[in-house]
Amino acid sequence: MKIGFDCASHTEVAEILSLSVSPNDIIYANPCKAPSHIRYASTKNVKKMTFDNITELYKIKAHFPDAECILRFKAHDPTPSKNPSEGALYELSKKYGVTIDYSREILLQAKKLGLNVIGLAFHVGSGQRNVRTYTRHIEEARRIWEIAREVGYTFTVLDMGGGFMYNNFEEAASAVNTALDNEFGDMIEQGGIDIVAEPGRYVSAPAFTLVTSVIAMREEREETGEKRMVYIADGLYSNINAAFWPGELTYPTVVKGKRTYTAKSTLPTSSASSDSGIEVEEEDNGSMDQEGGISTLMRGDLQEYSIWGPTCDCMDIVIEDALLPKGIEVGDWFVFKDLGGKILISLFLYFDSKVIGGMLTITGQ
Ligand SMILES: Cc1ncc(COP(=O)(O)O)c(C=O)c1O
Repeated sequence: MKIGFDCASHTEVAEILSLSVSPNDIIYANPCKAPSHIRYASTKNVKKMTFDNITELYKIKAHFPDAECILRFKAHDPTPSKNPSEGALYELSKKYGVTIDYSREILLQAKKLGLNVIGLAFHVGSGQRNVRTYTRHIEEARRIWEIAREVGYTFTVLDMGGGFMYNNFEEAASAVNTALDNEFGDMIEQGGIDIVAEPGRYVSAPAFTLVTSVIAMREEREETGEKRMVYIADGLYSNINAAFWPGELTYPTVVKGKRTYTAKSTLPTSSASSDSGIEVEEEDNGSMDQEGGISTLMRGDLQEYSIWGPTCDCMDIVIEDALLPKGIEVGDWFVFKDLGGKILISLFLYFDSKVIGGMLTITGQ
């Protein structure tokens, strides 16, 4: 096994090259690149790059005719909108990829332009909860592989992108291995294929924890219809843009003085109102001599709150209906774990800036 790098922009390529990585170990895996970024890749001899449209082929022909092109095909995500607990958290296929039906035509165009297409890429969607999706797309890759052979290309690279999650990684890896054996076993045996995976969130999600404080509160008032609202020091426009995507944000641990409250399972919302269904671990983090210190809060000990970011924008809502321990106050702390998947990555690393050094971000008073 070998380690390489998937870069999505000029800045990322420059960052990785500055670490003395060989250009051969980089895939510029963004199918829609700015022409100047393709020229930059050309000057640095970063040859492997993905494409999924004819305009991109013309750009590559103009700016880097020796590039080693990789065709990105479209994944078929079971859409989260149909079932919020299935499929991918992020449907990248909305933005990228050619259909199988179109693959022959685009490969013929590449051939006409005299471009070197060396393989295939796909991405099953980030945070993919259905591991069968890998199987399906490895099967499809094999079909396009044959189409490429008919067009006159002998592929050598299969890049299966990312999507891997912590909680189903073993299952996903097993599905991938079985499908690869079934579909590409002959080539793997002969050493005629480079299989690439680009795990992103699997590596980066646990690297970031956000600790943010409660800065303001609004109590519920029946007479005016006002709801109980908590305002925290961080929000959608800073570190918690995970709130944009259903299923991405995990329930925050609440730290109140010496006590810590951590939801046991998924994000408890006020709509899950069964008395026995919601459990929160309450831990006394102040007294070392107390044994265990964990108790369970039930529905009656919890209150409904909406959680808001600090900006004056009404879009800046973090959780619409959360069940939190009763008596949240200004000065309490919320701890959001595993924010390094798309969240901080999208904000800080992608395109425009350098890698940030810290693993723990603290915002608050
Ligand atoms: C081409 C490509 N590869 C890999 C990744 C990483 O995906 P994930 O974080 O789901 O593993 C992404 C994420 O956007 C991507 O666009």
